[in-house]
Amino acid sequence: METSPAPVPPLDPDQPRDRPRVMLLFGGRSGEHAISCSTAGGVLRAIDRTKYDVVPVGITRSGRWVLVDDDPDAWSITDGHLPEVLDGPAQVLLPQSAGDRDLQVLSNGAPPALLGSVDVVFPLLHGPFGEDGTIQGMLELVDLRYVGAGVLASAVGMDKHVMKMVLAGHGLPIAPFTVIRPGEFDRDPQVWTETVAALGLPVFVKPARAGSSLGITKVENLADLPAAIAAAQQHDPKVVVEAGIRGREIECAVLGGRPGQPARASQPGEIVVTDTRHGFYDFEAKYLDEAGVQLTCPADLPADVLEEVRAIAVRTFDAVGCEGLARVDVFVTPDDGVVVNEINTMPGFTPFSMYPRMWQASGLSYPDLIDELVELALGRPTGLR
Ligand SMILES: Nc1ncnc2c1ncn2[C@@H]1O[C@H](COP(=O)(O)OP(=O)(O)O)[C@@H](O)[C@H]1O
Ligand SMILES: [Mg+2]
Repeated sequence: METSPAPVPPLDPDQPRDRPRVMLLFGGRSGEHAISCSTAGGVLRAIDRTKYDVVPVGITRSGRWVLVDDDPDAWSITDGHLPEVLDGPAQVLLPQSAGDRDLQVLSNGAPPALLGSVDVVFPLLHGPFGEDGTIQGMLELVDLRYVGAGVLASAVGMDKHVMKMVLAGHGLPIAPFTVIRPGEFDRDPQVWTETVAALGLPVFVKPARAGSSLGITKVENLADLPAAIAAAQQHDPKVVVEAGIRGREIECAVLGGRPGQPARASQPGEIVVTDTRHGFYDFEAKYLDEAGVQLTCPADLPADVLEEVRAIAVRTFDAVGCEGLARVDVFVTPDDGVVVNEINTMPGFTPFSMYPRMWQASGLSYPDLIDELVELALGRPTGLR
């Protein structure tokens, strides 16, 4: 854990530095672009500047990497306004080989300029092209250390279909589900409607690879199924339909273990959607309607159920092969059964998000959590682990 990467010569000889340089990477191509920006605002404000140098790099919606303002306020969600990375003149290029950690900037046709080296990348990205292993793969290619899950765990965590298969393979409890691939429903709507009916209503129709509840519909009437599938397909041609679980929504934050140590689970928290207009924990409830949702940590559950949730959260983290951090979301049924809903390898990470709040309630502050995550990443080897 204390193994620092080899020292890197400073860019400006007049300003020698020994602080690791952290590249915060945010925005991105997914539907969760704005959420990612708001996470970046929180981290820019809280990261310990006496300990780390920070390089904020935004990814535009079209996938261009640009150097952006190191200004926490510019990236927050205020009065329902969603922040966005806009195209800028300074395009950032990753190191071009595994032996090199230098970032470069390209501006307006000028020759590339050195931006200095980077020791660790903190991908604050949610959804496809960020939380799904693609960015992680880019970083692996050039041996750059980064916070969080690797390529495979990220990809598994992103894909609700594969995630469920991995969890079921490890004997973890999940909701019954079916998968509808591109074109399948339209070829045989009758058979698919029967398959879905067999799950029992209501069902939840979801894009296999999205997040923030985007494209998810709760279907109570089979007549609404085709529209729900079409809505999910706006985000992903592969659709997961799962049986609705009646239960309380409980979440648990997991932090990777220090070298040789097991992963750590926080106090579980509970989400209660108090404004019934939402129907479930949808996008508006998550980000735009603070008053309509109550987050409680620790959740008001018997001690043995809390322990069970924590144990299942760590088993889920390990089953998927996560590193660094993940939030495991479960349902606790009226008879105190635990059903895993999903794992998020890059959970919401603003200071007000559940993941940091659950750690806060467990004795680890937001700045210390950021520090721990960066240290875990600095201390882990590159390549196959
Ligand atoms: N099987 C289910 N039973 C009951 N509620 C569900 C089910 N699946 C999803 N939900 C509701 O929809 C929300 C979003 O679904 P989730 O699978 O967590 O997608 P996302 O990855 O977008 O967060 C959940 O927080 C919950 O409120
Ligand atoms: Mg969720």
